[in-house]
Amino acid sequence: MEETITKESKWKKEEEEAKIQIYKYVFDFAEAAAIKCAIELKIADAVESHGRSITLSQISSALNCSPPLLFRIMRFFVRRIFKEETTARSYSQTPLSHMLITVAPLLVLENSPTIVESWHNLSARLKNNDSTSDLSVPFEVAHGKGIWSYAATNLEFNRMFNEGLGCNARVITLPTILESCGDIFNGIGSLVDVGGGNGTTLSILVKAFPWMKGINFDLPNFVSTSEEYNGVEHVAGNMLHFVPNADAAFFMPIFSRFLTMVCILHK
Ligand SMILES: C[S@@+](CC[C@H](N)C(=O)[O-])C[C@H]1O[C@@H](n2cnc3c(N)ncnc32)[C@H](O)[C@@H]1O
Repeated sequence: MEETITKESKWKKEEEEAKIQIYKYVFDFAEAAAIKCAIELKIADAVESHGRSITLSQISSALNCSPPLLFRIMRFFVRRIFKEETTARSYSQTPLSHMLITVAPLLVLENSPTIVESWHNLSARLKNNDSTSDLSVPFEVAHGKGIWSYAATNLEFNRMFNEGLGCNARVITLPTILESCGDIFNGIGSLVDVGGGNGTTLSILVKAFPWMKGINFDLPNFVSTSEEYNGVEHVAGNMLHFVPNADAAFFMPIFSRFLTMVCILHK
């Protein structure tokens, strides 16, 4: 009897905590939306270009925003991203708010309606076991075609994708690779980056290892919109049909945001 009462009261207590916790899931999307809002308004840029702590009214006039509404957003960001100075309604930059500037293209890509819509189709991936079916990949369920075909016909998404991935390589993955295992590039005369996007990765690698010639290999729509870089040749093609010859191939697999996995295959 006593045991049943203890169990019941434990359950009730946990249920009360769950009522609070469930709101995290109800409103989780709001955090990403607020970040996107900060990027679109360029709040971090305004704080950074001021060079020292900046008041709410200074940010409002720099960004042409309503002060009371901007205050609500800043209140949300204080302790999460920006630092509030002891003077009330005065803010300064932190390493994280500075990253809102440097990582903006990646945040914009991952929070774009095109990408978010595919996440909303995640359950289809779990229900369909046939990996060859069109219904197997959330992106295809959402948009009726694969991400590469979609990018080929949607130039704005193609640009956003290239910029987002280029930013990921420049700010996050390549500094880690160069710092932790840069010596793997010693002795390599030519390197082909398979699925190299707009060539950002190779442009950084050939600068760091100037003896190396870079071949950026990607689908035609990605290569045709790429910038020219010294020491990098762009080659358009499908890796399922051929890969240009080089001393080594570099392959940064899709969605390697957290696991930087580099395969250097000496030929
Ligand atoms: C996730 S992105 C990686 C881009 C770049 N390596 C990076 O890490 O920033 C994958 C790249 O593979 C390219 N890709 C996909 N299928 C391909 C194929 N069959 N042949 C060549 N490139 C392909 C895409 O166009 C895209 O640029």
